[in-house]
Amino acid sequence: MILGPGTPVIALFVAAGLIATPALAQSEDGARIAMQICSGCHGVGGRSESPMFPKLNAQTPEYIEAQLKGFREHARGENTARDYMWGMAALLDEAAVKSLAAYFSRQPATRGASGDAALTAKGQEIFEHGVPDKGVPACATCHGAQGQGAGTFPRLAGQHKEYLFHQIEVFKNGTRGNAPVMSAVAHTLNDEQAKAVAVYLQSR
Ligand code: HEC
Ligand code: HEC
Repeated sequence: MILGPGTPVIALFVAAGLIATPALAQSEDGARIAMQICSGCHGVGGRSESPMFPKLNAQTPEYIEAQLKGFREHARGENTARDYMWGMAALLDEAAVKSLAAYFSRQPATRGASGDAALTAKGQEIFEHGVPDKGVPACATCHGAQGQGAGTFPRLAGQHKEYLFHQIEVFKNGTRGNAPVMSAVAHTLNDEQAKAVAVYLQSR
């Protein structure tokens, strides 16, 4: 079946056979839920191939858990989150959330395609050192020297550049408004800088 923002979540769960066993969405079987439901958008093992859907492989478990809770509580409110993830997260109980977070965090990391060399070099410079005279902090301070993430600071390395760029936009316009620290950082970046960092990170 084709999944899209208009697809009622209930239809996804029926299609996945979860309705017959209502306890399953409330289950500790993260690998199974991931395969039956999440992979339709996020790809097998969270290795999404479409820039519309973020990669989840090798993401930190603490961050995945925090995001699923943020969707469930409608705290992460950009349109794409509302359309795709609010309904999904509402059907997952604590055990399922923990188990999914553990499952995706164990999936090996993958790099994306590399882009323009000059843009990549500029993005690396911003990532590692920031732009001190423009108030842009070094991303590596929070996201790790390799962009690998730590705890509730997400992994950014290997992520689709379109997704990264879009997130910087929604932090800026306030619709992803539940992360004041990152919103403040996003406001320091202009579009050109945001694009450069996104191109660099995708290839990491
Ligand atoms: C119908 C498509 C679809 C399905 C199915 C789906 N997702 Fe998502 N998911 C998305 C989209 C689109 C986003 C990006 C939302 C945004 O832009 O904020 C997302 C974002 C996320 C994020 C945040 C990632 C980040 O880097 O911040 C997590 C975590 C997540 N999904 C987990 C899951 C899990 C777990 C499942 C299965 C139970 C699942 N998703 C099923 C479409 C989907
Ligand atoms: C002071 C710490 C800090 C710094 C510095 C920082 N970030 Fe973040 N960033 C965060 C936190 C915390 C989150 C997760 C917010 C949440 O929980 O929703 C985040 C999330 C993000 C996301 C969303 C990832 C996803 O999967 O949805 C992007 C993109 C991002 N940061 C890019 C950057 C870039 C680019 C820089 C450097 C210019 C940077 N960050 C600097 C703390 C930081």
